[in-house]
Amino acid sequence: MGEILRTERLSVSFGGFWALRDVNLSVDEGELRVVIGPNGAGKTTLMDLITGRIRPAYGKIFFSGADITGKSPDEVAAKYRVGRKFQGPNVFENMTAAENLTLAAPVHRTVPSSFLRAAPCGVTEKAGEILEQIGLAQKKNRMACELSHGERQWLEIGMLMMQDPKLMILDEPTAGMTESETHRTGEMIRELLAGRTVLVVEHDMNFVRQVARTVTVLHMGRVLAEGPLAAIENDPEVVRVYLKSSKTEEEPGHAGA
Ligand SMILES: Nc1ncnc2c1ncn2[C@@H]1O[C@H](COP(=O)(O)OP(=O)(O)OP(=O)(O)O)[C@@H](O)[C@H]1O
Ligand SMILES: [Mg+2]
Repeated sequence: MGEILRTERLSVSFGGFWALRDVNLSVDEGELRVVIGPNGAGKTTLMDLITGRIRPAYGKIFFSGADITGKSPDEVAAKYRVGRKFQGPNVFENMTAAENLTLAAPVHRTVPSSFLRAAPCGVTEKAGEILEQIGLAQKKNRMACELSHGERQWLEIGMLMMQDPKLMILDEPTAGMTESETHRTGEMIRELLAGRTVLVVEHDMNFVRQVARTVTVLHMGRVLAEGPLAAIENDPEVVRVYLKSSKTEEEPGHAGA
């Protein structure tokens, strides 16, 4: 399969500070790419640029062959079908798990919640399938506020799935999860998202080992290294600036910054 996402010399500066500088990234369709790097490396900023949340100072972003540089977040999400999960669960707390999924279906985006019961043909079925896949079928009628932190994170991944994104961006999906929830998330990402293009930012190296094939390492706004996980883990520069200080469940430090 061919390339679906490409950035060329992508750069952004905040008041003279280059948070991202000349980042060239190429992701193939169906690939699961993991982005790692120390705090402040520019990982979230890269996701903000791809999803149109911020505009680059210079550089380009191409998606499915189209130049999407400077497009609005709505256009990137709706027209190009780039879905993004921010850090921390972002669900409707006072709705059930099933209702959250139904509401996430693209057709319902602007419909008031009171009309939800009239879900169009197919949406309820799709929500049912996704509830199974995210392990919440038994809890579909529970209010989101009654779910655990990890379950709410999974529910939000399910909400993204309802939109059938061509590219799914997950920023630290295991943040705040227990070890077993983290492992379950890794399995979910491998199974549920198989064949989808996924860009995932993570700090938890156990999780990264569980899911990763190709890893991109950002450091001080630049791509420090990129390649198969095994090579990355043995790259002396990566070990020096990141892995040495990165332990499971711990935020890595700024070594070398
Ligand atoms: N809107 C902004 N205004 C000013 N500086 C910003 C802004 N957004 C990000 N930065 C700075 O840009 C740098 C990169 O931040 P970013 O959030 O992308 O890092 P990150 O790699 O996601 O880090 P973390 O692992 O902590 O989430 C940081 O130094 C941050 O303070
Ligand atoms: Mg971040």
